[in-house]
Amino acid sequence: MNDMHRTNDLRHVIEADRAHVWHHLSQHKGYETADPRVMVEGKGMRVWDATGRDYLDAVSGGVWTVNVGYGRTSIADAVRDQLVKLNYFAGSAGSIPAALFSERLIAKMPGMTRVYYSNSGSEANEKVFKMVRQIAHRHHGGRKWKILYRERDYHGTTIGALAAAGQDQRRAHYGPFPDGFVAVPHCLEYRSQWGQVENYGERAADAIEAVILREGPDSIGAICLEPVTAGGGVIPPPAGYWEKVQDICRRHGILIHIDEVVCGMGRTGAWFGYQNYGVQPDFVTMAKGVASGYAAIACTTTTEAVFSLFKDDPSDPMSYFRDISTFGGCVAGPAAALENMRIIEDEALLENTAAMGERLMAGLHDLAGRHAVIGDVRGKGLFCGAELVADRSTKEPMDERRVQAVVADCMANGVIIGATNRSLDGFNNTLCLSPALIATPDDIDRIVEAIDAALSRVFG
Ligand SMILES: Cc1ncc(COP(=O)(O)O)c(C=O)c1O
Repeated sequence: MNDMHRTNDLRHVIEADRAHVWHHLSQHKGYETADPRVMVEGKGMRVWDATGRDYLDAVSGGVWTVNVGYGRTSIADAVRDQLVKLNYFAGSAGSIPAALFSERLIAKMPGMTRVYYSNSGSEANEKVFKMVRQIAHRHHGGRKWKILYRERDYHGTTIGALAAAGQDQRRAHYGPFPDGFVAVPHCLEYRSQWGQVENYGERAADAIEAVILREGPDSIGAICLEPVTAGGGVIPPPAGYWEKVQDICRRHGILIHIDEVVCGMGRTGAWFGYQNYGVQPDFVTMAKGVASGYAAIACTTTTEAVFSLFKDDPSDPMSYFRDISTFGGCVAGPAAALENMRIIEDEALLENTAAMGERLMAGLHDLAGRHAVIGDVRGKGLFCGAELVADRSTKEPMDERRVQAVVADCMANGVIIGATNRSLDGFNNTLCLSPALIATPDDIDRIVEAIDAALSRVFG
């Protein structure tokens, strides 16, 4: 990086931002006295801000998105070439990139056959909720309209998606919510709801069945689950969980909707998170890593059995899925996604993710051996978390401000990490790591060293 990004050069940009931009996830009072951070450039794993400072990004653009790293000119070229040829046409028609990407994507998802394009993870999930409701109306006489979601999971920011959020702080202030969304217990063994139990995974699955029986299996159409819970604490499923969840859902005729918005496209070392656990879904949604943030794209994928339910009676104008996402027709999305997928394949990034994920987990376990404040280390692939506690024996969660102090210390020392935030009352205490799938051993070691130093400084 040259000195083009000195403070004074971009002063007016920072002032314009301060004056007019409403940042996501932000309390703005602080920007009256401190400058908002404005990002300017990225290359590989690094980003530069408007003051010229550079950072190692251990969270792929803040919210686990830039899977193939910054500065990919081949994706930019693919998008540019497509935009000058055809930038847009509504999704009621096809496009060359949309057709080709759906073919490539479906080849990675045995059992799935259809791709519905939209624009964000929230929207992709809303499509499923609408499909489930339409199936209930048209094929179950209005029954099977409820949707189960899990405590600690998150599925997006719209009112419908928030109705399915298992995180109280994200729902608070935004209700009332639509009817028919029902919570099932979380599956975080470290915070077991049933004390020390053998086969915690099966016990957590049984708890889902208890909710189904309470509500009435006939009233429930689908269950929406993250394969590995993200913002609710980085929670890989316990052993035995998915097998039993799948069995319960099949027995009760409940469709399985897996939200791969975070885990999809390689994050866990497999193309999709669910593929680590031998489950066969009916719906899979994805967004963030699909084009690594080079263009907006989200996909709702279904099986042919689900798809067929929407063409059963061509003479009835109410039979098809009456839905459109205007920007689901932007052709830049699938053009970028095709190139993104090529990069993951040609650079063997799934293999790298598995290997670097192991290195990161080993590093975090090593830190846990030296810092009593780490109560639990969890993760899958390059998607890892460390839960901080005030007391290891009682597992009392660490005060959120001190968790944020660790994040701030890493940032001050040039490494961007994350922490669960505005998620669960009293439990915003998990450090989150999701470096790009291109991370090298040196990158991983630097991330672990930064956390090590931050924990020492904050907790002594
Ligand atoms: C698991 C999960 N699903 C859905 C979403 C919503 O995605 P978007 O912000 O693209 O609407 C998120 C966002 O963080 C997420 O983590």
